Amino acid sequence: MTDSIQLNEKGQLQHFLSIEDLPTQILIDILDRAKSFVDPETLHAKKVPLLKGIMVAPLFFENSTRTLLTFEIAAKRLSSDWVNLNLDTSSKNKGESDVDTMNNLQAMGCSIFIVRHKSYAAPIELAKSLQEGSIINAGDSNRAHPTQAMLDMFTIREHKGDISQLSVAIIGDIEHSRVARSQVAALKKLGCADIRLIAPESLLPTQFANDNTVQTFASVEQGIEQADVVITLRIQKERITKTNIISEQDYIRDYCLTSERLKSAKSDAIVMHPGPINRGIEITSEVADGEQSVILEQVTNGIAIRMAVLSMVASSQI
Ligand code: NCD
Repeated sequence: MTDSIQLNEKGQLQHFLSIEDLPTQILIDILDRAKSFVDPETLHAKKVPLLKGIMVAPLFFENSTRTLLTFEIAAKRLSSDWVNLNLDTSSKNKGESDVDTMNNLQAMGCSIFIVRHKSYAAPIELAKSLQEGSIINAGDSNRAHPTQAMLDMFTIREHKGDISQLSVAIIGDIEHSRVARSQVAALKKLGCADIRLIAPESLLPTQFANDNTVQTFASVEQGIEQADVVITLRIQKERITKTNIISEQDYIRDYCLTSERLKSAKSDAIVMHPGPINRGIEITSEVADGEQSVILEQVTNGIAIRMAVLSMVASSQI
């Protein structure tokens, strides 16, 4: 449980580690605050001084394109100083521990750390070790990617309104997806009563097979029937350790989101993907680049959500 760590004694968001233990109101505050940042004037033109004088350090122990860059853009839009440590050329490879690396950056004045790590425990341990300051989880293991889930909720809310009234389908490698786990947690918190997970048996974790607040499907056509939102996920080959996983050929045949399959969803359903896309495997280019796709909007909304989270954790430090 991370709830006591995530909020400070005044109930403000100090660390953003996972969706599960947070009060729903904090999630709504993040969405509402992001709304104030999403207007193009604030997002792309003017800087806002909310984080002036604050040093933000990314600690990315795993690869990233969208998450890292949208955090950097968000931090810079808020006028903070972005302290960019390249972990490939840092003293990490001389044996320094993650906590020591963080403490040294703190000694230089950094007070917000954005952490991506292959270990489930890493962001929690770093938060516990930090005397003052904030940790924001930018994706850990296959467990949590809370800012991705929030930018996805934001994108859904912008297009479809009240999330509690929607049918949301997630197709793909749920087993290895931190995005799917955080999305399901956020959808539940925001009252979504129709959450559908669609995957071959080998990519569906038992955690969900036994969860009666979600429905699971082996068939895409059945799973997305009349859905308002269809989210596709990449097969995360780098995390697969089992040997009996569906072959790529069979996956494409049965699970790739094609225009034909998409017809089972509502005609105005939106199509989402957290990226990176493997075109022709989990989604065809026709669908990824088609009229129903909001995939690049998700990326843009990531800036506003990350501005919201950065500014909230910064306020908790005052
Ligand atoms: C995801 C991740 O890293 O978990 N990407 C992202 O942050 N946008 C999904 C993935 O890697 O497939």
